Amino acid sequence: MELRLARPEEENALYNVALVTGDGGADGTHLFDDPRLLGEVFVGPYIHLEPEFAYSVHYDGIAGYVLGCLDTGSLETRCESSWWPALRAAYPIDVTRRPSDQELVRFIHAPEGRSEDLLRDFPSHLHIDLVPRAQGHGFGPRCLEFILNRLAEAGSRGVHLGVAASNARAQKVYRSMGFGEWSRSDDELVMTRQFD
Ligand SMILES: CC(C)(COP(=O)(O)OP(=O)(O)OC[C@H]1O[C@@H](n2cnc3c(N)ncnc32)[C@H](O)[C@@H]1OP(=O)(O)O)[C@@H](O)C(=O)NCCC(=O)NCCS
Repeated sequence: MELRLARPEEENALYNVALVTGDGGADGTHLFDDPRLLGEVFVGPYIHLEPEFAYSVHYDGIAGYVLGCLDTGSLETRCESSWWPALRAAYPIDVTRRPSDQELVRFIHAPEGRSEDLLRDFPSHLHIDLVPRAQGHGFGPRCLEFILNRLAEAGSRGVHLGVAASNARAQKVYRSMGFGEWSRSDDELVMTRQFD
């Protein structure tokens, strides 16, 4: 397994990773009519606007990503000026869309930022997704250690992430990497880790 800085040309492959892990860690292909939407929301901003913390996982081809963001508030501002506008034009609100697509389109039009309370102590965040052939080899913890070191070296105070309440496997990995639960809803846990 090798981590390499993600390249813009890898966009389609990385968007596909988001899709095949998009149902709480399992294949989400059946959930969405538009196969690019998940990637547009959860991958594009990182590889295009935060490229120094965006890594592709290579394991017999592209097999995942680990995407870091040093300052969540700053990325949200940059998305507002140069990521969401084009997507809002490409994906107008259309009530006939399938509910799962519609939820992402609504997010594109009105992204929900994280609370100031959370960002004060945990300004960074990350996403990790590995396709099935790269799961179960311990690559997840290695990728997390790598991105956590990168964020800490860059001066971060702390990092948060969101994980589906149903994704027990990922939660176990995050706890083993020093993350604790910060908040919980029916759908999502927010987990945090402070840097020394
Ligand atoms: C979650 C993920 C990053 C973990 O990385 P990984 O390298 O596959 O991790 P591993 O399978 O080696 O280790 C996971 C641990 O969870 C355990 N585990 C596996 N399946 C589990 C399950 N269904 N419930 C609880 N624990 C589980 C493993 O036994 C292992 O524990 P151990 O180290 O004590 O043996 C990776 O599997 C992945 O990307 N999955 C799909 C997408 C995803 O869920 N991303 C996270 C979104 S927030």
